[in-house]
Amino acid sequence: MASILSDKSSIKSYFQNTASEYEKYVGSTSSRLAAAALSLLPLSSYTSSSHILDSASGPGIVTKLILSPSPEDVAVPGLPISPPPRVTGIDYVPAMIDNFKANKASLNWTTADAFVQDSQDLGRFKDAEFDAVVMNLGMFTLNDPVAGAAEMYRVLKPGGYAVITTWKTRRAVDVLQAVVDTIKPDGGLRPMYMPPEWLTKEKLISIMESGGFPSDHVKSSESSPNWECGSGEGAVKALRSPMWTTKLWEGWSPEEIGRWDDEVRKQLSDEEKETGTLEMSAWIVVAHKA
Ligand SMILES: C[S@@+](CC[C@H](N)C(=O)[O-])C[C@H]1O[C@@H](n2cnc3c(N)ncnc32)[C@H](O)[C@@H]1O
Repeated sequence: MASILSDKSSIKSYFQNTASEYEKYVGSTSSRLAAAALSLLPLSSYTSSSHILDSASGPGIVTKLILSPSPEDVAVPGLPISPPPRVTGIDYVPAMIDNFKANKASLNWTTADAFVQDSQDLGRFKDAEFDAVVMNLGMFTLNDPVAGAAEMYRVLKPGGYAVITTWKTRRAVDVLQAVVDTIKPDGGLRPMYMPPEWLTKEKLISIMESGGFPSDHVKSSESSPNWECGSGEGAVKALRSPMWTTKLWEGWSPEEIGRWDDEVRKQLSDEEKETGTLEMSAWIVVAHKA
């Protein structure tokens, strides 16, 4: 079955086309995971002369936690970092960087900057430039993740930390897949497919080790940032957002599209209908440059 993220160029155009919706639909889940990742860094050691890279930044989910007051459901001691460090965001999708810059302007991030840049090629940064590199939900999209990890190692100061994340389980994607399988039993597109190896901590660990981080300096942990939609109908609404459906529904008949919401309702458990929470769990790997 083909996927809406079938190759690296479709991933780029997917994020270009969905950039304006990213924060609205998945920003809070992503932010909870980013907060868990940031909590593993020595936040209290950073100062105004520290420099942090928000790699594959999207609209600046990580930067927002570092520089702005956290949302109510995030309580990580040391966030936001004060006084604010310098933060640089990079993303290879121009629309994501436009959204980063809009956040910078509206939230007055005076110490942040952002550039359109592939995370695999950090050539614009000098060796030992950063105190920390954070890549939340980005490593699995790189053409050459080991090269990306080696670049992280190069741009980190000795003693610096890189933290990366990937999904472990994705109930939202399982629901989307089940609905597609029901409406299109002869084969629709696969929603948000990730090769199974990328849902393991071992993959993240081996990438960081191959990138140059010593194995005894690479540690993994887990987090459950869940997708909180407020109510069952909130989940139904979120799962029909153009972020998921624009590409999936290409070539579908009005009758097939008309069945979507009901099929989503059938997939949700009683508890999910009551709470609007879809379980999402993730791996976090922190690597330390000695
Ligand atoms: C799932 S989003 C994560 C965004 C953000 N880090 C967060 O915490 O929500 C993945 C992001 O990685 C970006 N991306 C994917 N491949 C990239 C690459 N090779 N270089 C830079 N950015 C990339 C996408 O454009 C998208 O903004």
